[in-house]
Amino acid sequence: MADIIDGRAVARKLDEETAAEVRAMVEAGLPRPGLAVVLVGNDPASEVYVGRKIKGCESTGILSVEHRLPEETTQDSLLTLIARLNADPSVHGILVQVPLPKHIDTGVVLRAIAPSKDVDGFHPVNVGRLSTGTGGIVPCTPLGVTKLLDTVFDDLTGLDVVVIGKSNIVGKPIAMLLLEREATVTVTHIETKDLPGLCCKADIIIAAAGAPRLVKGDWVKEGAVIIDVGITRIKGEDGKTKLVGDVAFEEVQHARAVTPVPGGVGPMTISCLLANTVQAAKEQLSGKSSDGFQIDWDDLPDRSMIFSQSED
Ligand code: GUN
Repeated sequence: MADIIDGRAVARKLDEETAAEVRAMVEAGLPRPGLAVVLVGNDPASEVYVGRKIKGCESTGILSVEHRLPEETTQDSLLTLIARLNADPSVHGILVQVPLPKHIDTGVVLRAIAPSKDVDGFHPVNVGRLSTGTGGIVPCTPLGVTKLLDTVFDDLTGLDVVVIGKSNIVGKPIAMLLLEREATVTVTHIETKDLPGLCCKADIIIAAAGAPRLVKGDWVKEGAVIIDVGITRIKGEDGKTKLVGDVAFEEVQHARAVTPVPGGVGPMTISCLLANTVQAAKEQLSGKSSDGFQIDWDDLPDRSMIFSQSED
């Protein structure tokens, strides 16, 4: 039987650490970290997510300010609110819940958030920092995946990882994080030739394609570790709806460990958001965060390689 990686327990422990960090900040006379959550419209799923985020703030001692705006809010007035939150020193993190209504350009809105307050890690500056290994704020679900892997492995060096899914908010950032940890990462997707053959060789499979029960038992080598990021609501044989992941869970019991759905990656996302808010607050309060994207060129080991082509 594969071990079950209990995401709820790992998330609870991370929340306890976050709450302890908040207490230590307050005891040191620093302001309490503050998260602004912006919700435009009445999407029911978004209402549930936002409710959970606010509750997570309450239980860890983070101040949360909720901005609920009507569906017909204009892009300009949303941008005005973001500019106000960017300039507000009591707000250390800004989260604009997506999807946004169709008349609003999501990219424009997310790029308007100051990178130092972008606790989702979606801003191109944070994406750039992640892909160059130069710090920044890491997207919550990918960060949660690495924390779950850390419960199984001390070291990821040299391990073969197959990531299924190439989205900007899950597949690509996970690949970048694991490359930083010296794993050998293959990024695949639904159109990949011989996906089962690639998965069969992997020490770790990260399934993030949003394709229910895609990963079958014979795709998984004995002793592999599987992280299932997929979560899709489907109708079961009994007519009731249920949540299923991207992995045929009962077929992969020869794995070393696997995350369940629900109760695996899901609970980690909000806990990582809270941890990111505390990180952002600490960096802002210590003057460490900068909203420019600067690479320390002298710190790069292969400087000559980078410039060799243009110098030829
Ligand atoms: N909608 C669903 N998940 C997320 C998330 O992690 N961040 C934001 N901003 N919106 C979401």
